[in-house]
Amino acid sequence: MVPLKKGKFRSKIESAEVAFTFHDLIMLPGRSSVEPSEIDIRTKATKNHKLNIPLISSPMDTVTETEMAIAMAREGGLGVLHRNCSVEEQVEMAKKVKRAESVVIKDVVTVEPGQTIAEAVRLMETHEISGLPVVDCGKLVGILTERDVRFAKPDLKVRALMTKDLVTASEGISIEEAKEILHEHRIEKLPIVDEKGALKGLITFKDILLRGKYPDAVRDEEGQLLCAAAISPFDVERAKRLDRYVDILVTDVAHFHNTEVIGATEKLLAEIGADVIVGNIGTYEAAEDVISKLEKVSGLRVGVGSGSICVTTEVMRAGAPTLYAVASVADALRDYGANIPIIADGGVKNAGDVALALAAGASAVMAGNLFARCKEAPGTLVTIGGRYYKQYRGMGSPSAMAKRYSLDRYSAPSKGVAEGVEGWVPYKGEVSAVVKELVSGLKASMGYAGAKNIQELWEKSKFVMVSPLGAGETRPHDVLLPSETERGT
Ligand code: XMP
Repeated sequence: MVPLKKGKFRSKIESAEVAFTFHDLIMLPGRSSVEPSEIDIRTKATKNHKLNIPLISSPMDTVTETEMAIAMAREGGLGVLHRNCSVEEQVEMAKKVKRAESVVIKDVVTVEPGQTIAEAVRLMETHEISGLPVVDCGKLVGILTERDVRFAKPDLKVRALMTKDLVTASEGISIEEAKEILHEHRIEKLPIVDEKGALKGLITFKDILLRGKYPDAVRDEEGQLLCAAAISPFDVERAKRLDRYVDILVTDVAHFHNTEVIGATEKLLAEIGADVIVGNIGTYEAAEDVISKLEKVSGLRVGVGSGSICVTTEVMRAGAPTLYAVASVADALRDYGANIPIIADGGVKNAGDVALALAAGASAVMAGNLFARCKEAPGTLVTIGGRYYKQYRGMGSPSAMAKRYSLDRYSAPSKGVAEGVEGWVPYKGEVSAVVKELVSGLKASMGYAGAKNIQELWEKSKFVMVSPLGAGETRPHDVLLPSETERGT
C-alpha cells in the first residue's frame, strides 16, 4: 500500500490558523490599582488627530450624516460621513458639520443691503442660522437677525430693517474678551472687522455656549468640530472637493489589499492635504504592503466581514474577523516600527467588545449597528410589535446599492452578489446616552485589566479563550429573565 502522504493541500487545512472573534475571547482580570474614574481613554484616530473617546461611527447611509457627525464629535469621538450620495450632498453635509460650531466663523454667510427680506430669510433657513451681517462692497454696514424679520413684509429691502449701529471687534480678540463684549451689549453676534471695516469673521454667543456645553468635544484649531468623510480611491474629484472641508478622509473599500486599489490610493494621496485612513484590511501581509507602498497613510481601517449586516464571510467564505485582523495588523506595525493608529471596524456589540478590540492593538473602534440605533442616525424610525426600531442596512445590501454611489465598495457589477443585508435595530435614544454607557463599560473593563490608559491596555491585558460549552456560563443562566417572560418563552 502506498503510504498516506501529507501534501500541500492537506497541510493547508491542517495548519489553518484560528481567527478568533469577539465571542471567543475574554480578558483576564489583572492586578489593578486604578479606579474606573481615573482611567484615561483619550486616543488617536490618525497620526495627527486626537479623540477624547475611542469611538467612530461608520460611513453608512443609515448611520452617519450631519447630525450624527456633529453628535459624535461633541462627545469626543468622530463621525465619518457616508458617500452613498452625490458629491454635492456629501460636501454640504461636511460644511454643515464644520459650521455647527467655531470660535470665529470665517466663511460668514452675508446679505447685501439691496436684497429683499424674502431672500435674507431664505438664506437663514438654508444655512440654519439666526442672523446675517450685511455687507456692501466688502464693507460691513449692518446686521439683520431673525427678530428683525419676524413680521416683516417679504419684499422690503434689507437696508430698511438692518441694525446699523454696530458693535464690532478686531481680529485676534480672545474668547474671554468677546464674551465680555457680548454680555455688556446684550448682543448675540459679534462681527470681526479689519481696520478698513471689511468683515473678517463672526463670533456668536451660541458658539461660546456650546464650548461650555460640550467640554469633551474634539475641535480643529479654528474651534470647528472634527469631521471625517468616506471616499473611494478611484474618485479623486470627490476626495479633492471634500478635502477643503474635512480633517480626515477614509477610504471605503471592502477589500483594500488589491494592487489597483493601492495604486489608485497612491495617486490620490499625492493630491490630498487631509489625513487619510485606508482600509479595510485584515492581515499582516496587507499591513506590510500598505505601509511599504503608501507612506502618507495616517490610519488603518481594519476588519473584513465581521459587520452585523455583513454576509461577505457567509456567502464568499472569505474574511478576517475584526479581533484577529486588528492583532495581525498591530503586529505588522510593531515589527516595522510604524506608528499608525488602527481603527477596529465591524462586529462590536457592546463596551466589552470595544475593550477587546483596543486590547488587541486598536486605537479606536468603528461601529455602525450601535450608532444606527440612535436618534441622530438618518435611518427611519418604525414600530414593530409595539417597540421602536431604526432601519439599518449594509452598504453592500441590495437597497443601498440601488443608489449606486457606493457600488464600487463591493464591485457588485463584477461580483454580481449582495454583500450586506438590511433590517432594524432597537431604538436607543440619543448618541450621548449610548456613548455614556459604552464609555462607562469600557472604563470598567480596563479597570479589570488593570490598565489606566489605552497604551497600558495594549501591554498589560491578557486574553483567554472560553470553550463553546463554557460560553453558556459567561451569560446569565439558570434564571428566567424578564425579556424571556415578555416573549412568552
Ligand atoms: P457593525 O457590526 O457595527 O459593522 O454593524 C459596521 C461595519 O460593517 C461594514 N459594512 C459592511 N460589510 N457588507 C459588509 O461586508 C456590507 O453591506 C457592509 N456595510 C457596512 C463597514 O466596515 C462598517 O463600518
